[in-house]
Amino acid sequence: MCGIVGYVGKKNATPFLLDGLHALEYRGYDSAGLYVAGKGAVKRAGKVAALTAAVPSDFYGTAGIAHTRWATHGAPTETNAHPHTDEGGSVWLVHNGIIENYAELAAELHAGGATFKTETDSEVLAALVGKEVRAGQTLEDAVACALSRVRGTYGLAVMSVTEPEKIVVARLGSPLLIGVAHGARFVASDATPLLPHTREVVYLEDGDLAVLTPDAHVVHRLDGGTATRASAHLDWSVEAAEKNGQEHFMLKEMLEIPETIERALAGRLGKDGTVTLGGVKDMRAPLRGARRIVLTGCGSAAYSAQIGATLIERFAGIPCEVVLASELRYRPFLIDPKDTVLIAVSQSGETLDTLEAVREAKRHGVPTLGIVNVVGSTISRETDASIYLHAGPEISVATTKAFIGQATVLALLALSLAETHDQTNDETRAFARELGRSPSLARATLSARDSIATLAQKYANVSGAFFLGRGAETPIAFEGALKLKEVSYIHAEGYPAGEMKHGPIALLDPEFLVVALAPGDALFEKMRSNLQEAAARGCRTIAVTTPEHQEELARLADDVIVIPKTHEALLPFLTVLPLQLFAYEVAKARGCHIDQPRNLAKSVTVE
Ligand code: F6R
Repeated sequence: MCGIVGYVGKKNATPFLLDGLHALEYRGYDSAGLYVAGKGAVKRAGKVAALTAAVPSDFYGTAGIAHTRWATHGAPTETNAHPHTDEGGSVWLVHNGIIENYAELAAELHAGGATFKTETDSEVLAALVGKEVRAGQTLEDAVACALSRVRGTYGLAVMSVTEPEKIVVARLGSPLLIGVAHGARFVASDATPLLPHTREVVYLEDGDLAVLTPDAHVVHRLDGGTATRASAHLDWSVEAAEKNGQEHFMLKEMLEIPETIERALAGRLGKDGTVTLGGVKDMRAPLRGARRIVLTGCGSAAYSAQIGATLIERFAGIPCEVVLASELRYRPFLIDPKDTVLIAVSQSGETLDTLEAVREAKRHGVPTLGIVNVVGSTISRETDASIYLHAGPEISVATTKAFIGQATVLALLALSLAETHDQTNDETRAFARELGRSPSLARATLSARDSIATLAQKYANVSGAFFLGRGAETPIAFEGALKLKEVSYIHAEGYPAGEMKHGPIALLDPEFLVVALAPGDALFEKMRSNLQEAAARGCRTIAVTTPEHQEELARLADDVIVIPKTHEALLPFLTVLPLQLFAYEVAKARGCHIDQPRNLAKSVTVE
């Protein structure tokens, strides 16, 4: 977690540092701080706004580092906020990640007379670097020396009071990139803070340490020697990273869903239904030979993987299994590299469990494919090949547009696998045609926004909610429940509807809400029965359906949400949209922190 920014150049660093922290606040928002050369440090518990208010107007300096925190070690207090310093105040450091052996390092430093002010693992790192600097090492040598003692993960930016025109950064397991401009170098955990200042960026790799000065950046390898890292050009617009006038990023991002689908399909889905996926060219042979596919991811990404698994099985006839990345890492590895491909689904491309599942697969020689949004992210670089969503930055902690982007890319992959496995037929062609229409279908579905806002007012105080689905709608039931609980804090669970009678039905009472996903697919009648059973227990009910069933479901459910009719396999792409809107509107009605729900962070780079 946590967001890092840094600047060394000729201008005042402070405005960039504060704006940069705002842009990165989705990565963590329980405390924040900055250090500016010649001025010192300011830290505050709470959001970046509290820090901004505390920074004096004359806090001027041409180099500085800053951090917004998501606590892992120690409470989110002002003392525990970054930057951290050593006892003599000779170095200042911001850190994203976890130092696993910090207790033993702290004990060793303590035996040598050191004392610590905070409960953090990061302060130990500052103490180690400070000790080397005081012994006469350059800052870069001191950081390298300290890191050689450390077990764990880090994205790190460090400054020394004796070398004020220099920032040393290092990366192992937590993302960092350098922004390059005339007479200035920037560093950040992701590209968003850099967009207003430069489009030229250099992505650091694990094991890199870089020395930034106003006119240069030199990348070294922590295990010796220098490294050449080519620069990349960012094509994200500044506006794309802002709210476009909407009240929340979550809403802005939901309204971008039709465009997200268009971008995912662009140049890939031909008019004749054929699919071209440039990203998989290095994976052609393993995909052609695949007899089994394992998909992995966390949270919503695992649910979009389930949509993908259903589509691949249906159209390409290849058996698929979805395994949560956090589980896959620790179970016996029974994936045969000869005929199995691992697909890792991740918006950020930085989720630690997903990354480690990829690494585990690679250790066993299994070909790996990433489905990723953030270009240059670790998963996109470590998998054998990647297909990008091209969804643009997703800032709201709760994913919406990236979920659909992932499902769209997986749908393309299912069609592509159908081609390579000689399964193309009238059904796949009909699905491809409908997939091409899906941006306008999504637009039509989202136009129900106002009526969903009205429904949300009605159900904003339910005691709990079940989301029920069957078959292809089961992942949507899971996703609908996850969305509601994370942004509105209402306890919600998704269930395959057939499971209701095996226990959960006991919870139904007049304060409880059941949302039944009952579009016109092959399982409609089963779902209608499940809805009837729920309604008979006196709970409150909403049905999501297609126009041909609107009337009959209106007789069973308290409310009905209607989505457009489409190909059966594409229905989940539409049924999820009102559920996202519903979660958003309920959260708004309840006055929740929609874009940054409590206890959450956008990018989960710890286990
Ligand atoms: C829920 C949500 C999370 C993420 C999960 C994986 O709204 O956003 O469940 O889907 O943390 O994140 P990525 O896709 O970045 O690997």
